[in-house]
Amino acid sequence: MGNYSTSKASLSLAQALQELDQNQLEELQQDVHNLARWLTPWIPQAEALISLTEQGVNSVDNLTTRQIETEQDQLVQKQQPVFNLSTTTRQNSFSAQDELPAESAQLKRFAQGIPGRKWQQMRYFVRHLQPWLAQEQKQSQQVTTSDQSVNNCSDSDCKCEPENTRHILEWCAGKGHLGRLIAYQQQENPEETASQDHYQITSLEWQQKLCRQGEQEAHKWQLQQSFVHGDAFDQQAGELIQTNTHAVALHACGDLHCQLIHHASQRQARSLLIAPCCYHLIRADSYKPLSQQARQSQIQLSKQDLKIPLQETVTGGQRIGNLRDTELLWRMAFDQLQKQQLNSNDYMPLPTIPKHLLTGEFKDFIDWAISNRKLDQCISVDMDVDVKAGVDKLNLDSYLEKGQQRVQQIRRMELVQHLFRRPLELWLVLDRMLRLQEAGFHVELTEFCQKNLTPRNLLIKAYRSD
Ligand SMILES: C[S@@+](CC[C@H](N)C(=O)[O-])C[C@H]1O[C@@H](n2cnc3c(N)ncnc32)[C@H](O)[C@@H]1O
Repeated sequence: MGNYSTSKASLSLAQALQELDQNQLEELQQDVHNLARWLTPWIPQAEALISLTEQGVNSVDNLTTRQIETEQDQLVQKQQPVFNLSTTTRQNSFSAQDELPAESAQLKRFAQGIPGRKWQQMRYFVRHLQPWLAQEQKQSQQVTTSDQSVNNCSDSDCKCEPENTRHILEWCAGKGHLGRLIAYQQQENPEETASQDHYQITSLEWQQKLCRQGEQEAHKWQLQQSFVHGDAFDQQAGELIQTNTHAVALHACGDLHCQLIHHASQRQARSLLIAPCCYHLIRADSYKPLSQQARQSQIQLSKQDLKIPLQETVTGGQRIGNLRDTELLWRMAFDQLQKQQLNSNDYMPLPTIPKHLLTGEFKDFIDWAISNRKLDQCISVDMDVDVKAGVDKLNLDSYLEKGQQRVQQIRRMELVQHLFRRPLELWLVLDRMLRLQEAGFHVELTEFCQKNLTPRNLLIKAYRSD
């Protein structure tokens, strides 16, 4: 950051942020180490906090919720609860040696219709399930060799499920791509699957249309995958979990994966693989920690706080990035407009903006926003004309300019939140792990793929050894 950093300590943090030029801003946005160094005059623990989260991610074993919390709480000067993750371990994160093997022509055909990054995420994800299945298979082989029977039923027409059936439950499955890949691998790799082993993949999904599409694909590939069209929050969904169930959840949002943790703990599932996402999608007004230990914490998290980890959006490319920038600019410009028109100081949020509007004209977006917020009257009465003509008369460029100033301010203020993105995510993930540990699981944390495939690349692995 050149000479700038030598004089900044005498400024307040807000002043120093405002004084950043565009290049400096971008440098800090792109490199969290740089950011931590830059913030140190105001947040002395900034660098320690980042190195702590990376210790856990890049090396092994020694990251605990308590440490993260201690660093974070020192920042907010609170008394600390004590966390204990003594039997919870953290594994090596993704490394170059973990590259995926080349895809066969058939696998490429299998992947058709699955978005590229999602496909890669899934391939990495399933690699964490294989060792558990292989281990169980070995155990069941030992049992069946000594006992030669797979099914104890004496009826030759019996439709009972063989005893060594592995149940794999895909939670909030969408079209069930992940479950389908698991089913495919079990079917296509006989060397990894003993002939006596039976797999049943069940994919739970709320949207019937996705269930139907998933069923068609499974049928096309003749795979042992069935769909349950249901609500993860129903008690019946919990009944899909048995003591021999391996449950997988790739990016089941907020409360959805927490619900899986709840059911799996109650019903003693065999194992869980969960890649969490969208921590803010919860039914309560604010975060309710899952684990007993986190419940003692004084950290209070609003839904807005829970969005902080999601600000890390390394995927999506230039086009998506530009759309996001346009959206923020237009929202801010509209806010300036409504404040002036209504003579108000209050921010007026807008709901999700239809995508096609963001690639169109600013004026059309304003027409939409005015009618969405039912401001037609204010504008037309004010201007004594109908709303379209009223909007035409507004000096939209001046609102865009004011919006741009707001965006610049927001982007600078956001830098402080950036520091807490990964630590906060780890805190939330470790809370989930503690809950599982309290329920008797052995728990591990790893990164299942590179961050450029998804920033939500943390994977909770929990299994019962009994
Ligand atoms: C972010 S998507 C993830 C889908 C899939 N696991 C993947 O990674 O592609 C979340 C899925 O959860 C489903 N879902 C949302 N609420 C649900 C509920 N209450 N019960 C079951 N599924 C739900 C959605 O329809 C959606 O398909």
